[in-house]
Amino acid sequence: MAEDCCSFNKDSLNIKPPKKSPLVLRTVVLVAVMICVVYIFSVCLELIGNHREPRIIKIELAEQPCHNPGIPQAEIPYVHYPEPSTYSREECACTPVRYFAILSMQRSGSGWFETLLNSHINISSNGEIFSAKERRSNISAITKTLDKVYNLDWYSSASKNECTAAIGFKWMLNQGLMTYHEEIVNYFKIRGVSAIFLFRRNLLRQMVSILANNHDRSTKQLNGTHKAHVHSKDEAYVLARYKPIIDATSLVPNLRNTRESASNILRYFKSTRHIVLYYEDLIQNHNKMVDILDFLKVPRRKLVSRHVKIHTRPLSEQVQKWNDVYHALKGTQYEKFLTADYEM
Ligand SMILES: *[C@@H]1O[C@H](CO)[C@@H](O)[C@H](O)[C@H]1NC(C)=O
Ligand SMILES: *[C@@H]1O[C@H](CO)[C@@H](O)[C@H](O)[C@H]1NC(C)=O
Ligand SMILES: *[C@@H]1O[C@H](CO)[C@@H](O)[C@H](O)[C@H]1NC(C)=O
Repeated sequence: MAEDCCSFNKDSLNIKPPKKSPLVLRTVVLVAVMICVVYIFSVCLELIGNHREPRIIKIELAEQPCHNPGIPQAEIPYVHYPEPSTYSREECACTPVRYFAILSMQRSGSGWFETLLNSHINISSNGEIFSAKERRSNISAITKTLDKVYNLDWYSSASKNECTAAIGFKWMLNQGLMTYHEEIVNYFKIRGVSAIFLFRRNLLRQMVSILANNHDRSTKQLNGTHKAHVHSKDEAYVLARYKPIIDATSLVPNLRNTRESASNILRYFKSTRHIVLYYEDLIQNHNKMVDILDFLKVPRRKLVSRHVKIHTRPLSEQVQKWNDVYHALKGTQYEKFLTADYEM
């Protein structure tokens, strides 16, 4: 048994591995190690290569962008070179672009003002893009819209060629501007957007214009179409025939609200690059438009608009029950609105 056992043990001990196997094994291991080393090495090289390549591209991109030594240091945050995704700016790829937004209220002359700006070959102002509710339903929708406009990818009748040097639109205070003012101010500062405030001094005239415009929206006095702006004296005459009734009891609180909205928005945006304009000043002094062209850093040119003013007569002839309005404002801080008319 023992022998059996031992012989079995012996046998098992004596089992000689085939003579050549250690050599083969060693060779196999060596080859495997070499393959590993070569593989690791090649992976390392590839990684280094991959890391290096984008760095080179980035350096090239950083050096390539348009460099305009004529632009003062302080202006640099407001100078942009957008790359639209829908077309190429071609020979104007290095034409600097300024971003602006006209912040205004209904019936403050912003429609007229915008046609003046759009008569300039280098300015595109895209209208009231936030009148569509879904574009202002939350801050991400607003930001997305702004990005598209400032990337020169917004298409409207105001879109110019690839040599646009100032791009913007008009934005009414009640179109998300007050609600999201913090985020919007932040966006303006980060993206270098300039604000153009356009207000009206005579808020009573603004009110008459709002009421008359609302009336025309329902009555469509010009051959069955509603017109917010007109291009002829005849059309202006038709629209100005309507005399609204102003509710005298709510007049002062209404004027106060409007004035407060204007002063609030100015306060919110005071840290942005901005300019404040009044419709009456622009009407009376056309040279004022030069200030805006300088503000936007576009060449000075003559600006034209086909808009014709609708309400040109003294206010007392343009509202019903003038006496009530007169007495509501007499002796208040708004008294001057009763008489402040301007020459045309
Ligand atoms: C204005 O537009 C014209 C015509 O497209 C272009 O030649 C010119 O360079 C532009 N000027 C500026 C300041 O961008
Ligand atoms: C924001 O508004 C847009 C358009 O109305 C909508 O599609 C989107 O889901 C909204 N996003 C958030 C975060 O509420
Ligand atoms: C209304 O239409 C008629 C004819 O189509 C035209 O002669 C007239 O000028 C129009 N009036 C206005 C106010 O647009």
